[in-house]
Amino acid sequence: MSKQQKVAIVTGASRGIGRAIALKLAEGNFTVIVNYAGSAEKAQAVVTDIETAGGRAQAVQADISDAAAVERLFATTLERFGRLDVVVHNAGIMEMGHITTDSLDVLDRALSVNLRGSWLVMAKAAEVLEQGGRIIALSSSVLAKSFPGYGAYIASKAGVEGLVKVLANELRGREITVNAVAPGPVATELFFEGKSEEQVAHIAGMAPLERLGQPEEIAGTVAFLVGPDGGWVNAQILRANGGFA
Ligand SMILES: NC(=O)c1ccc[n+]([C@@H]2O[C@H](COP(=O)([O-])OP(=O)(O)OC[C@H]3O[C@@H](n4cnc5c(N)ncnc54)[C@H](OP(=O)(O)O)[C@@H]3O)[C@@H](O)[C@H]2O)c1
Repeated sequence: MSKQQKVAIVTGASRGIGRAIALKLAEGNFTVIVNYAGSAEKAQAVVTDIETAGGRAQAVQADISDAAAVERLFATTLERFGRLDVVVHNAGIMEMGHITTDSLDVLDRALSVNLRGSWLVMAKAAEVLEQGGRIIALSSSVLAKSFPGYGAYIASKAGVEGLVKVLANELRGREITVNAVAPGPVATELFFEGKSEEQVAHIAGMAPLERLGQPEEIAGTVAFLVGPDGGWVNAQILRANGGFA
């Protein structure tokens, strides 16, 4: 490996938006750590796709809500590749549940994976990133909608947006940018899960562009923030959503 080749971790890169981000960064000459929770085969398929196209990647299992697992994810990256330039914290879950006394477990799971996971991954990124590094977390444009049933998810992602802005301030002086990308509805398993065709069509029609986003479009937004043209963008929430505001 060339000493100059930059290294990126993408959490939740076995499928959906994370997979597209991993492929895009590899195309941009990053060595990519393809993190996943349970989908080992899918993560390995992403690695194979990257290698087939001439890039470098490694799959690393780690539940990002588990502090020891996050330590291991970063340690494995640094042991194998010796540097870390970019962390895209994309892993997340979305579970529906109205705000009722018997759905506390939905809140606990959302906070554990989406918020505690973001804390752990961003904290570790802040500890080890090279000068000039980039941290990008995934939020969601659904924060602007406040749909019934989205309480736990929206609470967790609002927390992520808060962490991004605070961390950008805490990293003053290190030339590290910290931003979030907040997609509108994107055609992935997370979005389609539990929705009827009618519900999908209704939500897809809400944005002025009248369609779902594609994972590659979110990957393009992340690539902008990671690349030289995104260097002055810091402590921002970039809402890539077709106008789903
Ligand atoms: N799709 C949308 O409409 C949409 C809109 C706004 C924001 N987002 C956000 O974008 C991100 C990606 O969403 P997506 O639609 O691509 O989701 P997805 O298709 O469900 O994929 C989720 C990814 O996260 C990983 N993951 C889940 N829990 C994890 C954990 N505890 N530790 C490590 N990895 C974990 C999964 O790994 P395994 O395969 O191993 O389970 C998978 O790679 C999420 O943060 C989501 O909230 C999505």
